[in-house]
Amino acid sequence: MKNVLRLCAESEVTEGAPFSVEIEGIPPLAVYRIDDEIYVTNRTCTHGDADLTEGFQEGGEIECPFHGGSFSIKTGEPVNLPCSKPLTTYPVKVIDGIVYIEKP
Ligand code: FES
Repeated sequence: MKNVLRLCAESEVTEGAPFSVEIEGIPPLAVYRIDDEIYVTNRTCTHGDADLTEGFQEGGEIECPFHGGSFSIKTGEPVNLPCSKPLTTYPVKVIDGIVYIEKP
């Protein structure tokens, strides 16, 4: 497949434990499971330099470990202050148990 990036195995991503992926040339990513679906966002909070994979996933939301702001994992929209800028999200494909996104 062209223009796709392999992130991880689907089995590495458990609900409530966002999985961190670093690939040279693009921002660090966070991979989440919500029920049976996989979602991918940028890993760094838009309010500061916090790693969201060290935050707290509550269903469809991720709470930042620094100041408690949160985002919708599915849309990237901020849900709680002090977060006000959306997180970048990526369309995901899972093929044969492997998680991919298109090259940003
Ligand atoms: Fe994430 Fe402040 S750095 S809420």
